[in-house]
Amino acid sequence: MTRKLDLPDSCAPMSEGLPFAPSAARNAAPIGDVLARHLSAQGNVLELASGTGQHAVAFAARFPGLVWQSSDLAPRNLATIRARVRATGLATLRDPVTLDACAPGWGMSRTGQDAVVLVNLLHLVSKPEAATLLAEVPRALVPGGVFAVYGPFRRNGVLHSEGDRAFDAHLRAQDPAIGYKDAAWVAERLRAGGLDLVEQVEMPAGNLMLIARRPSGSA
Ligand SMILES: C[S@@+](CC[C@H](N)C(=O)[O-])C[C@H]1O[C@@H](n2cnc3c(N)ncnc32)[C@H](O)[C@@H]1O
Repeated sequence: MTRKLDLPDSCAPMSEGLPFAPSAARNAAPIGDVLARHLSAQGNVLELASGTGQHAVAFAARFPGLVWQSSDLAPRNLATIRARVRATGLATLRDPVTLDACAPGWGMSRTGQDAVVLVNLLHLVSKPEAATLLAEVPRALVPGGVFAVYGPFRRNGVLHSEGDRAFDAHLRAQDPAIGYKDAAWVAERLRAGGLDLVEQVEMPAGNLMLIARRPSGSA
């Protein structure tokens, strides 16, 4: 389902005629540094909820051996991603596809992924929607494939900064079903899907990045 949420970046300014998310510009390098430790040199990457497409462009340029498939649910964002992707002319950067990451079934129709990347979505969906997304990811990954998820999280149920408490409350005021998920709950859902948690990284601005891997020998 699509929600119309008031988010800090939703009134994103335009850059070269396209909507631009300042947060994506800020976090692309630190997220890329973590991805660089875990992604293979070659393979297929599926990015969920690609937003403005800034990450897709940045990561396809940074990891030239990877075929980068962006996706989103919102038609307006898909149009932005498509325009941004086409402007780069990078052969490894595919046109975005429509994908509801919270709908059951997409994992089996997107198999063969060496990595799935998700930035800043889990806090914007309900817990059942997040659980569905996290259950679908392992189905899309090849054995040895990696899932990287970045965003703001609770840690052991606790919101750690005043900014986190304010943002979580702002989200819940718009829809009581959404808000920050607990990092331990996300890790537990990934383990339930057969993935091993390989790294949890403290990121700038109090965010976290979780890296999970499908075991190489798994069927
Ligand atoms: C806060 S933005 C993050 C965009 C981008 N990943 C970034 O970090 O800049 C959330 C994105 O999730 C998309 N989205 C919301 N619900 C979705 C769903 N169920 N499946 C896929 N994308 C979804 C929105 O359209 C939006 O592009």
